[in-house]
Amino acid sequence: MRDAAPTTIFLKDYTPFGYLLDSVHLTFDLSAHATRVTSRIAFRPNPDATDRTFFLHGEDLNLIRASINGTEVSPDVTGKGLTADVPDAPFLWEAQVEIDPGNNTALEGLYMSNGMYCTQCEAEGFRKITYYPDRPDVMSTFTVRINGDLPVLLSNGNPSGKGEGWAEWTDPWPKPAYLFALVAGDLVAHPDRFTTRSGRDVALNLWVRPGDEGKCAFGMEALKKSMKWDEDVYGREYDLDVFNIVAVDDFNMGAMENKGLNIFNSSAVLASPETSTDANFERIEAIIAHEYFHNWTGNRITCRDWFQLCLKEGLTVFRDAQFTSDMRSAPVKRIHDAIDLRARQFPEDNGPLSHPVRPESFQEINNFYTATVYEKGAEVIGMLKRLVGDEAYAKALDLYFDRHDGQACTIEDWLKVFEDTTGRDLTQFKRWYSQSGTPRLTVSEDWADGTFTLTLKQRTDPTPGQAEKLPQVIPVAVGLLGPNGDEVRATEVLELTEAEQSFQFTALATRPTASILREFSAPVILEHDHSSAERAFLLAHDTDPFNRWQAGRSLAQDTLLRMILDEATPDADYLNGLQAVLRDDTLDPAYRALMLGLPTQSELAAALHERGHTPDPMAIWSAVETLRQATAQHVQDLLPRLHSEALVDGPYSPDAQQSGKRALGSAALALTSRLDGGAMAATVYANADNMTLQLTALSYLLRARKGEVQLAAFYDQWQHDRLVMDKWFGLQVTMAAPEATPETAKALTGHPDFNWKNPNRFRAVMGALAMNHAGFHQPDGAGYSLLAGWLIRLDPVNPQTTARMCSAFQTWKRYDTGRQDQMRTQLSRIAETPNLSRDTTEMVSRILGA
Ligand code: BES
Ligand code: ZN
Repeated sequence: MRDAAPTTIFLKDYTPFGYLLDSVHLTFDLSAHATRVTSRIAFRPNPDATDRTFFLHGEDLNLIRASINGTEVSPDVTGKGLTADVPDAPFLWEAQVEIDPGNNTALEGLYMSNGMYCTQCEAEGFRKITYYPDRPDVMSTFTVRINGDLPVLLSNGNPSGKGEGWAEWTDPWPKPAYLFALVAGDLVAHPDRFTTRSGRDVALNLWVRPGDEGKCAFGMEALKKSMKWDEDVYGREYDLDVFNIVAVDDFNMGAMENKGLNIFNSSAVLASPETSTDANFERIEAIIAHEYFHNWTGNRITCRDWFQLCLKEGLTVFRDAQFTSDMRSAPVKRIHDAIDLRARQFPEDNGPLSHPVRPESFQEINNFYTATVYEKGAEVIGMLKRLVGDEAYAKALDLYFDRHDGQACTIEDWLKVFEDTTGRDLTQFKRWYSQSGTPRLTVSEDWADGTFTLTLKQRTDPTPGQAEKLPQVIPVAVGLLGPNGDEVRATEVLELTEAEQSFQFTALATRPTASILREFSAPVILEHDHSSAERAFLLAHDTDPFNRWQAGRSLAQDTLLRMILDEATPDADYLNGLQAVLRDDTLDPAYRALMLGLPTQSELAAALHERGHTPDPMAIWSAVETLRQATAQHVQDLLPRLHSEALVDGPYSPDAQQSGKRALGSAALALTSRLDGGAMAATVYANADNMTLQLTALSYLLRARKGEVQLAAFYDQWQHDRLVMDKWFGLQVTMAAPEATPETAKALTGHPDFNWKNPNRFRAVMGALAMNHAGFHQPDGAGYSLLAGWLIRLDPVNPQTTARMCSAFQTWKRYDTGRQDQMRTQLSRIAETPNLSRDTTEMVSRILGA
């Protein structure tokens, strides 16, 4: 049942629930199409609430019976929930509902995947399991009994009983319903143990389908490393006797932090050298850490309401980034994060979907699990840490855990612990949570009498609903280099608080070169009119690894823009600078591989748009091809050396060193393939004994328009493995020539293995289509109409995944009127589809600016 008019929820309307919950008992009688859920909930009036309306959320439930204190009642039931008259005193609510997990294709609530029952309750899925006050500030202990004839029956907390066909679980830690989980199936465990620093012995299990046992070891190691790291760095210990992780093939997101029972998309946990790439291993390590870290930042301290989502997600992303920096290379991680922020968050912040890190209204909360809330939310914490210092940050976090353990909190609570720890007034800093849009930082320089003056200006363009912007607190890390490349001023954090401010560096012998926004100290767009020569100087000498990389990136972007706009030839400063860096074998191979990266074509489109030009996707594509070809020729002599440096001794390991070497080798192979027509890639493919090499070699063969044979062989070799087949589907669309991209994607949707109801498989093809910039934006609109058609088909089946993928159209206003018309037509076609979900309706109308 759906509302005719969508309702908007506002942060300012928050009121507490009228009742407190002393305990929740749930019994599940599992059956594919008629699962019975019986709930017993002890309610009592909430002394802190004024509104005593007894409303329980409930959707797609069939109410069998309900009683209060043992007396049957007949509540008023709508498509959204029920209301009932209740006593003005503690009472026991009992209800039984029937649900149909076997037909739950939306993958929210209780659903089935390959014969296994599993749940996804965040954000508002618990209301599809039983009637309940489904909001994060309502917390209770849970006891769960599962009746079902499946070998493995799991829920949150500790096991408290089991027998033939049943199991009972008790979770002693009060939690909101979104952290509830249940899993039942024919699963096998990869077991291990962990002893916490205070001596608690924890049983760890990674549960997978029979056949996947060989893909568990890496995830388990990542879990133990995460548990140890959170003890060492944040002083946080695990708090139950068991920790279970389950891998499931049908899952909308990456993974979910349910208390004591994390549920993972199998792509985010299962790994083996033969089937997973280095990038897969790195992502798995990060996601395991992320979900584990939520046990403190999210579960022990949760969110008061969904507007506070960044309280747990921004902080937990920040924590998992710290973990990855510690486990691998800090500069490489920082560069990856900057690339990711620019690729995913900047387009959001600077387009029709722009919203603050803490939004103030929404129609469908699922649409706000965004790069802004997550990644910009994490950046905001990084800035706070930079401003107060590491020691104060550690103290503030201790205070946060002490003061708020067991509570459902707000951003105000979070900032208050920093104010109380440091005495600092964070009123202006708080604008990072309320103002949307990416600040632009412009820099001008002045030099006179030994004094170097930097003038920094900030401005943020208007965003939907926010015409006027106030200055934000921007930590700008700056260092100065002398003419021979020595650092004449070490990194210092300038605090920009006004619209415009000048900072002076005195007593300098010669005019320095400024290295600005070191370590990417704030999520802003830096506009610094450095000459090519200055950028080349920084590329050769900057002592800050991030900015050294950035100098190369800026040179690459400048030359690409000139090639696109003025038909210029590739810039010699860029090619020579890159060559020098590649030659320097004291530099980490992973870092040199990153140096070989280019801005994405979508980023170039944004840069052109910002400079008042209309981006032509085909012109962008050709410029990138030309620059790549020129680079290959320019560094040709170095390629054999890079290939040999990338050689790895001994057995495959996904660690930072080995994967860094493979990344450099792969970047060199990409260039070599432009010179030898794919001959070397064919050899690498033939000899590959791990997925990283196999897949990179295949991709360069495909780009050389060779590789038909290998593509077919790959299919034969891996058709039994779903996760590898996702790669096979995606790669063909990613590597297709622009003109052939829509047709390639379309043909793949007709493949017998294109199981479009599986989110991973759908995304493999349609996500790759949307990401192939020149292919998606073919002038005839074939890419747009193909994607829109599939989104319309998927919406009634899985609204959440459909809505997320609508963001492929968020940049539509950047392009020429022809493409704009085509995209508007497709967006309207989606919008006008009868019975469109609330999720997709909201996304499409925001993108259209309606
Ligand atoms: N809590 C989320 C999972 C989630 C998101 C559930 C939205 C329901 C709706 C989880 O902690 C998470 O953030 N997962 C990320 C991966 C993480 C490493 C950023 C995901 O699933 O992509
Ligand atoms: Zn999370």
